Amino acid sequence: MKNLNIAVIHGPNLNLLGTREPGIYGAETLDQINKEIEQEAKKCGATTEFYQSNIEGQLVDYIHSCAGKIDGIVINAGAYTHYSIALRDAIAAVNIPAVEVHLSNIYKREEFRHTSVIAPVCIGQISGFGAYSYILGLHALLHALGQASS
Ligand code: DQA
Repeated sequence: MKNLNIAVIHGPNLNLLGTREPGIYGAETLDQINKEIEQEAKKCGATTEFYQSNIEGQLVDYIHSCAGKIDGIVINAGAYTHYSIALRDAIAAVNIPAVEVHLSNIYKREEFRHTSVIAPVCIGQISGFGAYSYILGLHALLHALGQASS
């Protein structure tokens, strides 16, 4: 099977993981989480690239740049999840299978977090397992891509 190339995208404030509200988001830094994802992907025979931005337009540009070189996307859009039609449209535009992930369980939190405008353009959503949400999201995505190519 083809070697899959996966983009892992982190939205605003996720660069502060480790110090940002650790009771909600855990003690691991973004670098640590990215290393874990990279290792897990490697075990599954996939390569990864990572991108984080606090700026909506940069995230849109990065998603556009995935076209033609990325097979699947794992995305934690942070607060943009709840209102960025631009991110939703970017994911739909590149037509790359995407899995939405969240460290916290967004449905257990404030009501404004209960809506995801990107969910309808993603294969599915993983929410509430801390950093492990990314690993679950990666496996779900690889499974979906495997099914798609068989
Ligand atoms: C988050 C949940 C969002 O509501 C929040 O704005 C974040 C992180 C999560 O991973 O739990 O920045 O996406």
